[in-house]
Amino acid sequence: MSFPYSHLLNKSEALQKLSSFDESIDSRKKRFIGYPCNADLHLEKFINWWSKSAMSELPLNDVGDPFSETSYTLNSHPFEREVVDYFSSIYNVHPSWGYVTSGGTEGNEQGLYMGRRVLSQFGKPILYFSEESHYSVSSLGKILNLEYCKIDAEESGKMSEEALKETIDPSRPALFSLSIGTTFKGGIDSIENIDKIVKEKGIKHVYYHADAALFGGYLPYLTDPLAPTLDFEKHPYDSIAVSGHKFFGSPFPFGIFLIKNKYLSSFHTDFIQYIDAENITIPCSRSSLNTLLFWWIVHTTPIENFQEQAKTMIQNANYLYYSLREKNYPVWLNSFSNTVYFKQPSLEVCSKWTLAKTNCHKLGLLAHAVVMQHVDRNMIDDFVADVIDFLQ
Ligand SMILES: Cc1ncc(COP(=O)(O)O)c(C=O)c1O
Repeated sequence: MSFPYSHLLNKSEALQKLSSFDESIDSRKKRFIGYPCNADLHLEKFINWWSKSAMSELPLNDVGDPFSETSYTLNSHPFEREVVDYFSSIYNVHPSWGYVTSGGTEGNEQGLYMGRRVLSQFGKPILYFSEESHYSVSSLGKILNLEYCKIDAEESGKMSEEALKETIDPSRPALFSLSIGTTFKGGIDSIENIDKIVKEKGIKHVYYHADAALFGGYLPYLTDPLAPTLDFEKHPYDSIAVSGHKFFGSPFPFGIFLIKNKYLSSFHTDFIQYIDAENITIPCSRSSLNTLLFWWIVHTTPIENFQEQAKTMIQNANYLYYSLREKNYPVWLNSFSNTVYFKQPSLEVCSKWTLAKTNCHKLGLLAHAVVMQHVDRNMIDDFVADVIDFLQ
């Protein structure tokens, strides 16, 4: 019987195909300005070490809870616990629980799943998030079968507190997915003001999950005292999800999820004999390579380097903002945001510079540039010149 798939290659043909793909990808880096991923990666030492290590030939897998024994012992849980420990210090969550996720979306799913479970003992919760939240939040609401309420946003992208006041149901537990840096405009939902509203309305049972996919990476390294913080001791956050491949940078996506440890008691009934552990993480198999790479990045990068990167990103975002403004091009930028949004340029420019686009009902057709570590001032000058040239 012949095999129905007919495109198999020998190894040298396959390597050739991969190499030409690699060249085409590399040439796109010079104009990668529209999405929030760091393309200034320096991971050769780790990747070379890993490719020669014994574990590159073993099915390492971080299945289960990194803080409890499981019967699948080929894991990197000790390193995963150190990653959790690093981020617990950064966000001041003590004691905490968490794990290395496959990205921001999985961390949001874990946060909303845990929040729903924590609140369900007091009644059926309602999930609140703004219309500017990442699109996955409403998908997660559906997946988790949560009744949800999408709140209007201000022009800046942050949740409208007026709209929240009018909409929030004081008789039901409230589960919030707060955008700490909305995807398109970099607006930050104000937990202080939202919590005031919750208290004024007399809502006793509330859970705040921070969707800090991009900003959660760099905000903790900004030394400006006016910069917003994700400090769990100062603000009533309950859990947080951050993408690792955005600010920290990686050739494959991953992230971190953290929650206050006190909430774990809601899950102690879920014992799974197959892995000889409690079932708390939504996924079963999880990548140990993600864990080890994340561990490497945060443990070998001096804090001053991250501080310098965060500061430069914000300065360069301001440079882009003022360069467009100088040309009278409609452009907006929130404080401490690296996400510059502007009137949508021609489709040629959008495609040449990999720009994400949206139709904002308040500001019209928009595009944005996310000023990550690889976006330097030369790149910004070239970009601005293209935006303006195509206007003429
Ligand atoms: C605010 C926000 N949340 C969640 C996500 C999804 O993160 P990930 O792509 O890591 O799943 C993004 C991605 O851009 C985002 O901007």
